[in-house]
Amino acid sequence: MRSALYRLAMIIGASSILFTACFASTDWAAKGPTEESYSQESLTLGASVYSDTCASCHGRDGSGSFGPALLGKGHKYAYQDQRRLIERGRRSMPGFGASLTDKEIEAVLAHIRVGFFANRNDELPG
Ligand code: HEC
Repeated sequence: MRSALYRLAMIIGASSILFTACFASTDWAAKGPTEESYSQESLTLGASVYSDTCASCHGRDGSGSFGPALLGKGHKYAYQDQRRLIERGRRSMPGFGASLTDKEIEAVLAHIRVGFFANRNDELPG
């Protein structure tokens, strides 16, 4: 009896977590680009690094696929935290600190924090 009640409590607990995860999530894309400004050179390089290295998991336009959507996520992470995540990876995301140069990592950050929005209607290279 006690364990049946316990299980019921667990089910209710788990469902409310699921409910929160599904319905109370932030609409990051609506937050748009971050305040930083980047050079056109960096944005252009970033768009091509992104389409070569990240688009397969995060979608060409950043709307997500195997990996989560990235649009507007510059508001979820401070620059350094987002940079660290890209360099080191996290769970099923590989790290790119060894395969990309500093310049390429800076450029891809420029792309996902700002360039996505600036270039949305332009053709992406690659
Ligand atoms: C092999 C697939 C894969 C590739 C390639 C990949 N990612 Fe990811 N990425 C993921 C997964 C899966 C997650 C979720 C990680 C987790 O659950 O902790 C993620 C998470 C992220 C996050 C955090 C998103 C959030 O909502 O918190 C960022 C930022 C990110 N990736 C950026 C990039 C960038 C930039 C590149 C290219 C340099 C890249 N990723 C390449 C699979 C990938």
